[in-house]
Amino acid sequence: MRPARARRHIAVLPCDGAGKEVVPEAVKVMKAAGADYDFQEYDVNADQYMRTGEPIPAQIWSDLEKADSILFGAVGDPRVNDAAYLAGVLLRLRFELDLYVNLRPAKLYDDRLSPLRKEERRKIDLLILRENTEGLYVGMGGRFKKGTEEEVAIQEDVNTYLGVTRIIDYAFKVAEREVVMVDKSNAMTYAGALWQERWKEVARRYPHIKTRHLYVDAAAMQLVRDPTQFEVIVTGNLFGDILSDLTAELIGGMGIAPSGNVNPETKRGLFEPVHGTAPDIAGKGLVNPIGAILSASMMVRHLGQQEMASAIEGAVESALRAGECTRDLGGSLSTSEVGDAVAKRLRD
Ligand code: NAI
Ligand code: MG
Repeated sequence: MRPARARRHIAVLPCDGAGKEVVPEAVKVMKAAGADYDFQEYDVNADQYMRTGEPIPAQIWSDLEKADSILFGAVGDPRVNDAAYLAGVLLRLRFELDLYVNLRPAKLYDDRLSPLRKEERRKIDLLILRENTEGLYVGMGGRFKKGTEEEVAIQEDVNTYLGVTRIIDYAFKVAEREVVMVDKSNAMTYAGALWQERWKEVARRYPHIKTRHLYVDAAAMQLVRDPTQFEVIVTGNLFGDILSDLTAELIGGMGIAPSGNVNPETKRGLFEPVHGTAPDIAGKGLVNPIGAILSASMMVRHLGQQEMASAIEGAVESALRAGECTRDLGGSLSTSEVGDAVAKRLRD
């Protein structure tokens, strides 16, 4: 008899360095939570790239296009040109699969992990929505009179009516209370004007949601002053990248921050910890797998299994509160021991 629904195909791309250590822990935890997915790991990494010159070989690409979701580690290796390799793997996946929403939640699971002195400023549970397919990251521009003292370097900031509209619209769809739009329209007047116009127009369609606008510099200040004031922040590619590193630190640092790259219409998704390959600590069992595990929980939620996602998040929270964590969060467990501690809570 055929099963009612085919098993979900999850493409697993640990890639390099810390990614190779944290992704297996995320898979371990999903299995402990009862996820019945068909996990398939692919050889996308710096060794493969150096061997073939292709960041993602064509055969693998066609599989990735068909996958229900992608669980991703981190890319980067001192032996290869980082910019070309990163563009060929991560930016290609984001751009060509049109994963235009970059979800970067920041939730504080244990007070102990917050650098904020005042207790009432620690109830942090916010979501940064970063536009993921345009802005300064499209790689348009050039260098004129390169290498001379007259050199001119131009990096274009691409903002389209469609791109700006759809990310702002998504923010209103997921917010329950308030959407804060962040830009720098006082200085970047052309792109800023488009963002302002689209923002005001889309907001009119959601009269039950409160709206607020902040310039990015003020937003950085407010995030440190009192992050509990925010629910959903929507912004462009560059500002979202920077502000989400700031919020990662507010909840315990790089090791813990998760992210999702999704297209709400096609339902495609790629889920990855915010951190990179952590070459300074990789390979020694010191890397924190919580960012990857929480990214897996976001993937499970995206695939429609809300209860399982909440169970994984709850298991992470309880392990953190019990101090069962890696060195960066003040604990003494290894990468795989943290995975075991979270998995055990799901089985018990
Ligand atoms: P990074 O995120 O790898 O490391 C920054 C700092 O955070 C380091 O001190 C590292 O030890 C620490 N850290 C990172 N992940 C951690 C974890 N899971 N547990 C505990 N500590 C952790 O960023 P960095 O050093 O700027 O870049 C290293 C390499 O990673 C480069 O090749 C870069 O291009 C690549 N990279 C890749 C990203 C991706 O695949 N999405 C994102 C950022 C960087
Ligand atoms: Mg970043």
